[in-house]
Amino acid sequence: MPRDRSDIRAIKGRIDVVSVISRYVSLKKAGASHKGKCPFHKDDTPSFVVSAEKGLWHCFGCGEGGDIIGFLMKIERISFVEAARRLAAEAGVEFHAAEEDGERETLRSVMADAAGHFAENLRDASAGKRARDYLVSRGYGEDAWAQYGLGCALPGWENLKRALRSRHEERQLVELGLLVEGEKGVYDRFRDRTIFPVLDLSGRPIAFGGRALEGEPKYLNSPKTPLFDKGRTLYGLSWAREAFTATHAAVLVEGYTDVLTLHCAGLTNAVASMGTALTQGQADLLSRFVEEVVIVYDRDAAGGAAALRGMQILGNSGLTVRVARLAEGEDPDSVVREGGAGAMREALAGAVPFYRFYVEELRDRLDPSSIGGKERILSEAREFSSGIRSLPLRQAFATELSGLLDLPTEGILREIGRGRRLRSATDAMHAATEAWLPEENLLVLLLRGEIDWKRVSAVLSVDDFSPQNRPIAQALAETEESSNISELVEDLDEASARRVSHYALAAVQFDDVQRATDDALLRLVQIPSIEKRLSDLDTQIAMCEKQENWDRWNELERERVALVSEKLARRGMHGKEG
Ligand code: CTP
Ligand code: MN
Repeated sequence: MPRDRSDIRAIKGRIDVVSVISRYVSLKKAGASHKGKCPFHKDDTPSFVVSAEKGLWHCFGCGEGGDIIGFLMKIERISFVEAARRLAAEAGVEFHAAEEDGERETLRSVMADAAGHFAENLRDASAGKRARDYLVSRGYGEDAWAQYGLGCALPGWENLKRALRSRHEERQLVELGLLVEGEKGVYDRFRDRTIFPVLDLSGRPIAFGGRALEGEPKYLNSPKTPLFDKGRTLYGLSWAREAFTATHAAVLVEGYTDVLTLHCAGLTNAVASMGTALTQGQADLLSRFVEEVVIVYDRDAAGGAAALRGMQILGNSGLTVRVARLAEGEDPDSVVREGGAGAMREALAGAVPFYRFYVEELRDRLDPSSIGGKERILSEAREFSSGIRSLPLRQAFATELSGLLDLPTEGILREIGRGRRLRSATDAMHAATEAWLPEENLLVLLLRGEIDWKRVSAVLSVDDFSPQNRPIAQALAETEESSNISELVEDLDEASARRVSHYALAAVQFDDVQRATDDALLRLVQIPSIEKRLSDLDTQIAMCEKQENWDRWNELERERVALVSEKLARRGMHGKEG
């Protein structure tokens, strides 16, 4: 995407990073920076650091970080251009958006027009009557139509097409999934259906769900479009935001009507995954707003299995997960219709931690009284437990299983611990933050402006850095000395940007900058010669193998192993610095 650098520079020059971030996070001054609780993960200790001077933020808990534009993009879930535009307006700077973004804006206005068309249909005295009657029969009166933007698509193949044709390009209507291309031309996707608009965080329609007034399929949704990705969207999120801020808890349901009925009944923290398959993208989205999720899926086979998958995905996003059970054949919508909001509140209050829900499901499905049943349960539990990263949660899960199987918790913990995955790369990275490696020390010094790139480039090249830090070294090599580091991150991929904010804002002290620099350089500078020796060794080792000279082979192999670990240590790829 073409970006106008001078605009961005002007924006950053005028915006006070601390005051913008303060709108989302309560910040306290701590030395030269500000600190607060991270809005992007469940943060008990303030691990979120903002530096006004550097124009950067970083969370030392979850590893997120970057410049102010990146912050706004992440917290508001908006594009680069949209974030830049908002900041520009605030800073009183002119900002020229790229073509591409103008296109998205146009697509949004097409969707708004389509929503308007559907809403109008619903109010049409005769054509809208059937859908109106249907909505009212489900308990959604006129207030709800307006509040949730409900509408209807009329029977016939070209209603929307004719209504929007004069104002918008057909190509865009197709791109948005409003029209479908058939053999005899394009026609309306949504026909004779009640329409539920799906909104983005700012409350603008990005997709539609259409429920059939009769016939199949029951629901028809917009396809994936430049504005809509179902796997990254939750139905009802824009309406639930306020309640999320107040309660830090979400109720996760399956469907459009579940959300509407719960919201109408005053349970305004409900959002829907729009079907049973919760995605990681949806879980991550939720984890930005709440700490706890109560899953209330339909009480049918699909809903039960989906709740199981969903709770692991949610758990891994750092959320506390409970599951509420409904009576056979019910969904949240039917519970409220039959028993009122009270019945739903009761179900929510009875929600159990997800591991208990899982153990109960095992109990019902497999026979815990037989040896074979116990073995099957343990083997499934091992698989399930491997998806739980938190140790206390695994412990709670084991205790629960111990009760079911009548076996000691310790043994179960050992048993289910076996299948545990290795820590993910990011976990490892966070764990290692306290042990600084030579190359990282150099980057810290460089990014803080304590030393400049020339000092490093005199002895090292960009390629001497390890692959994960190479993009940063490259950017440092290309950047003018005078520029601010928050500009450096603009060219970097997300992972590298996070590293930059980490290095720049980390609380490490160097008693003697010169010595720290010399030490780090000395360790790194010898890497190329180690590599040369390693490649010689490989040739010699191969030769020994051919000649079956095992004594010599042993000697060389030992030297090779030592060199490899020395190289890794110098570069800082493993082990800790002594
Ligand atoms: N869904 C879908 N496509 C389908 C069926 C379901 O996208 N063919 C999604 C919809 O978001 C729907 C949700 O899955 O709201 C739950 O499905 P279901 O329980 O069948 O529908 P309800 O929302 O309960 O609808 P209703 O109350 O109108 O029966
Ligand atoms: Mn349902």
